[in-house]
Amino acid sequence: MKKTVLVSGGAGFIGSHVTVELVEAGYDVVVADNMSNCDMTCFDGVTKIIGRRLPFIRMDFCDMEAVERLFSDYQIDAVIHFAAFKAVGESVAEPILYYRNNLSSFLNVLEAARSHGGCNVLFSSSATVYGEPDETPVTERSPRQPATSPYGNTKQMCEDFLRDAVKAYPEIKGIALRYFNPIGAHPSALIGELPRGVPNNLVPFITQTAIGKRECLNIFGNDYPTPDGTCLRDYIDIVDLAKAHVCAVARMLDGRMKEPYEIFNIGTGRPVSVLELVNAFEKVNGVKVNHRFAPRRAGDVTAIWADPSLANRELGWKAERSVEDTLAAAWAWEKHLAGK
Ligand code: UFG
Repeated sequence: MKKTVLVSGGAGFIGSHVTVELVEAGYDVVVADNMSNCDMTCFDGVTKIIGRRLPFIRMDFCDMEAVERLFSDYQIDAVIHFAAFKAVGESVAEPILYYRNNLSSFLNVLEAARSHGGCNVLFSSSATVYGEPDETPVTERSPRQPATSPYGNTKQMCEDFLRDAVKAYPEIKGIALRYFNPIGAHPSALIGELPRGVPNNLVPFITQTAIGKRECLNIFGNDYPTPDGTCLRDYIDIVDLAKAHVCAVARMLDGRMKEPYEIFNIGTGRPVSVLELVNAFEKVNGVKVNHRFAPRRAGDVTAIWADPSLANRELGWKAERSVEDTLAAAWAWEKHLAGK
């Protein structure tokens, strides 16, 4: 029988790409989102890519009754929880908002999973839990560092919620995927990143600068102790990242987990500097990205990249797309948005 996967926050950037890959892998998917940080662009894009409209429930995961109803209306075999606020700076300014939203929505998912006889729960975590690592690349055994923002703290706390829930309730199994820096867009250019206002993240800022929406990209810091002085990150293609979720869900549903709670790094294992990324974008797309060096951004870590070997081995997953192809997809998406 076909298994059903609930994708909370499924109308957003990562959720919409994961939804497509789940459908293509043969799962029934239910999408739920409160649309607080997106519009229907990506959900409509998903409909076009897969050729049919999936069940969509507009709801807030902080509303326990709505979550209960959802779990009653559908026989959910696995839930992938994306629904959360994600802006680091905003979380510093509005910690209560972030704690209330990100923590209570996940607690509600865990509670409903439990009261409905158990469920497989995949939590979308982040490399932010490693903070400024002592050693790179980081493995899943590298220590978590004290969070430097309420956002980062919610990722750590939700990981702990899942770990403890799995320990207490054998009917719940959990996987946390720690994403490095997801970038790019679907090759169809029908779904992609849709930041509201001025982008915080590098690639949307690059594409918006290239298309003329922003005047100039500020490269935050060129005096870091790295080969070219700019920060190093592990940029992971969004479709590759989405496929990791399909592998993780299959592992849970097929009973292949080695522990009831598992953690995997989802990255390429390849460090790329900010400057290298900008240069690669210009080269592969044949466009200029106006940029200048600016002071360091508070809270940025110097260098972090993944050791993805555990995910490679255990999930049978590997990042495949080159950074050039990913940057070409990001540009195609920006042009699609601009109607070009
Ligand atoms: N950068 C710039 N200019 C910009 C935007 C970013 O130079 O306009 C640089 C940053 O300084 C950093 C790199 O590009 O060196 C990547 O920055 P992003 O904001 O794209 O990504 P981060 O590595 O800061 O963010 C990631 C995740 C977040 C997570 C955060 C925690 O995207 O979800 O790590 O530190 F919270």
